[in-house]
Amino acid sequence: MTTLLVTGGAGFIGSNLVRMVAATGQYRLVVLDALTYAGNLQNLEGVIDGHRVIFVHGSITDAELLSKLFADHTIDAVLHLAAESHVDRSIASAAPFVETNVTGTLRLLEAARAASVRRFVHVSTDEVYGTLGPEDPAFTEETPLQPNSPYSASKAASDLLVRAFVHTYGMDCVTTRCSNNYGPYQFPEKLIPLMTLNALEGKPLPVYGDGRQVRDWLHVEDHCRGIMLSLERGRAGEVYNFGGFGERFNIDIVRGILEATGADASLIRHVTDRPGHDRRYAIDPRKATSELGWHPVHSVEKGLADTIAWYKENAAWCENVRSGAYLDYYAKHYGTSL
Ligand code: NAD
Ligand code: DAU
Repeated sequence: MTTLLVTGGAGFIGSNLVRMVAATGQYRLVVLDALTYAGNLQNLEGVIDGHRVIFVHGSITDAELLSKLFADHTIDAVLHLAAESHVDRSIASAAPFVETNVTGTLRLLEAARAASVRRFVHVSTDEVYGTLGPEDPAFTEETPLQPNSPYSASKAASDLLVRAFVHTYGMDCVTTRCSNNYGPYQFPEKLIPLMTLNALEGKPLPVYGDGRQVRDWLHVEDHCRGIMLSLERGRAGEVYNFGGFGERFNIDIVRGILEATGADASLIRHVTDRPGHDRRYAIDPRKATSELGWHPVHSVEKGLADTIAWYKENAAWCENVRSGAYLDYYAKHYGTSL
C-alpha cells in the first residue's frame, strides 16, 4: 500500500485531508506535526490508529528526524501542508514564518530527495500572487509572484525552492495554490471561525477597515480533493490553482454569520485595517478543471451554513480551543509533555 507523509496534518486543512484520505482506506498515512498553537490532535481523534494512520511529533526543520522518518516508514510521496499560516502573526513577527515555511520546506525537500520519493505535493496559497483591483482578471498559474505580507513572502520563497528542486534535480514536485478555505476544525484566529464563535458568544466582531476586501472562499473538502488529484493526476513540475468561484466582501461574510447565528448587527466593530492588507483575491481554476477534472462542489452559502452548524454542534471542541485545553491533549494521550 502506498505510504503518504502528511506534514501539518494536525492543522485545519491537514486534519480534514487526513480524515478524508483515511476514510478511503487506499493509503497508509504518516502524519508529521510540530503541534504549534495551530496544531490540535483532537482534530484527528478516532483517526490515528498507529497502523494505517501514524502520528509523529516533530518539526520539518529537524533534518535528523526527517531522515530517520523517511527511512523508518518508506514514504512513497509527500503532501506538504505544515506552515505558519496566519497573516496577522507574520506581521507581528516574521522570523517563525521564514524558519518553518522557508527553512522547513528546504529541509523537507532535501530529505524527500535523499529518500527518492515518487512525488512531492507542495501546498501553497493564492497570496503569493499579491493583490487584485476590482476589475482585474483572476489569478492564473502564469500570474507573476508579488507577495505583500511576510507570510506570503515566505510561501513564495518556498514555492521557488520547490521550482528549483524540479529544475535542478529533476525532482517530481507539484505545487498547489489555493484561495481562502473554510470548514470544520479551523482555528478561530481566521475570519470565519473567529466571527462565528464571537457571534455565538455575543462578543464584538472586529472587521478590518471598511470590510470591503474580497476573498474567494473555498470549502476545505474541495481543496482536499484538489490536493489528492494533484498527487494522483498532476503533471510533474506543474502548478495548479484552486478557487471556489466564491468571491465575497468580508463584510457580507460577517453579515451572513450574524444572520445564521441570530446575533445582533451591533456586534460589528470596524477596527484599524491590517497593514499592507491585500484588497482582493480571485482564482481562475481552469487548469485544474481541464487537467485534473477538478471543480468545487460546495456553494459558499450552503458551505457556510454547514460550517456554522458544525461549530454550534461541536461546542466541546470550540471550548477546548478557546480555553487552550487542547494543548494538553498530546500529553494526556501519549504520556509525554510537549
Ligand atoms: P494551520 O495553521 O491550521 O495548520 C498548520 C499546521 O502545521 C499545524 O498543525 C502546525 O502545528 C503545523 N506546523 C507548523 N509549523 C510546523 C513545523 N515546523 N513542523 C511541523 N509542523 C508544523 O494551517 P492551514 O490553514 O491548515 O494551512 C495548511 C497549509 O495550506 C499551509 O501551508 C497554508 O499556507 C496553506 N493554505 C492555507 C489556506 C487557508 O485558507 N487556510 C489557503 C491556501 C493555502
Ligand atoms: O488566500 C489564502 C490564505 O487565506 C491562506 O494562505 C492563509 O493561510 C489564510 O490565513 C488566509 O489568509 P487571509 O489573511 O485572507 O485570512 P484571514 O481569515 O486572516 O482573513 C480573511 C479576511 O478577513 C482578510 O481580508 C482579513 C479580514 N479579517 C480577518 C480577521 C482575522 C477581518 O476583517 N477581521 C479579523 O478579525
